[in-house]
Amino acid sequence: MKKPVVILTRRWPAPVEEAMRALFDLRVDLDDRPRNRDELREALRTADAVCPTVTDRLDASVLDIDGVRARVLANFGVGFNHIDLDAARRRGLTVTNTPGVLTDCTADLAMTLLLMTARRAGEGERLIRTERWSGWCPTQMLGTRVTGKTLGLVGFGRIARALARRAHHGFGMRVLFSTPHPPADDVCAALGATPCASLEELLAGADFVSLHCPGGAATRHLIDARRLALMKPSAFLINTARGDVVDEQALAAALAGGRIAGAGLDVFEGEPEVPAALKALDNLVLLPHLGSATVETRVAMGMRVVENLQAFFAGGTPRDRVG
Ligand code: DGY
Repeated sequence: MKKPVVILTRRWPAPVEEAMRALFDLRVDLDDRPRNRDELREALRTADAVCPTVTDRLDASVLDIDGVRARVLANFGVGFNHIDLDAARRRGLTVTNTPGVLTDCTADLAMTLLLMTARRAGEGERLIRTERWSGWCPTQMLGTRVTGKTLGLVGFGRIARALARRAHHGFGMRVLFSTPHPPADDVCAALGATPCASLEELLAGADFVSLHCPGGAATRHLIDARRLALMKPSAFLINTARGDVVDEQALAAALAGGRIAGAGLDVFEGEPEVPAALKALDNLVLLPHLGSATVETRVAMGMRVVENLQAFFAGGTPRDRVG
C-alpha cells in the first residue's frame, strides 16, 4: 500500500524525521526556512498531510484554493492561531496540535524570564561582556526580590498552572489568576492560587504579571496602554504566550517612562522582527521564542504529531484534534 505523503514545512529533530520516514512518504526541504504563501499552497496541493509550525501563516488566502489534496494539518506546537480554523474546516481539513508535552519547559522559561527581569540578569551579563564591570559594590545593580511576591497569571491553562506550581511551592509566591473558566477549588488550593474577578483587579494586585492566553483576534493587544497603567510601577510583565497579546509600542513607552519596572518577552507580534523601541531598553529581557526549545520537548512534540497522523490515517480521530 502507498504511504501517505507528509510534508514538513521546516526541519524537525532527527529522531522524529526518522520515525516519520519509516511510516510516511516524507517530504522535507533541506533549507529550513519559513514557507511563503505559494509554497504553502503547493504543499496543500501535493501532500496528504501538511505539518506546519508557528512560522507558517495558514490564513484564508492560503487555504481557500482549488485542488487541495491535503486532508490534515498536523501542527508542530500547541498554539494554532497561525491557522484559520474556519478556512480549514471549509476545505475539509482536520487540524491537530501538540498540547501537554511542552508544558513544563514553557513554564520553566517563564520562570527564567521572571527571575532574569527581577534580578537584572540580562543587564548584568551585558556589563561583563562589554568590559564595564569594575567590581562588587553594595549598591550595584540592585534588583527586586522574587520570593514571597505576588504572581498574576492571565489565563489558567496547563502552562499557567505549571508556573503557579513553581512560583508557589518553589518561591513562596502568592498566586492570582484571571480566566473565564476557573478550575475546581481543590485545584486552586493545591497551587495556592486565587481567582480575580477581573483582569483589571489582577493587574493592580500583582508584582509579576505572566501571560498565558491564546493569541489571535480575541486577545490582540489585550495588554495595552490602559492596562499597563493599571500595573504597579514596581511590577514586571512576562510574555511566553503570543506576541500579539501585547501592544509592543505601548509596552516600550511604559518601560521607557518607568510606568512599570521591567518585562521579559519570549514572543513578538511580528516575529522575527523585534521593534527597535524594545531593543533599546535595558529593563527588558528578550528571548527568541524559546518556550518549548529543549531537545526532549521538541522530540516529544514531533512524536505527538506522528501519533496524531497515525490515528488520522488509520481512520480514527486524532487525540489532539482542534479543528
Ligand atoms: C507552541 O507550541 O505554541 C510554541 O509557541 C511553538 O509554536
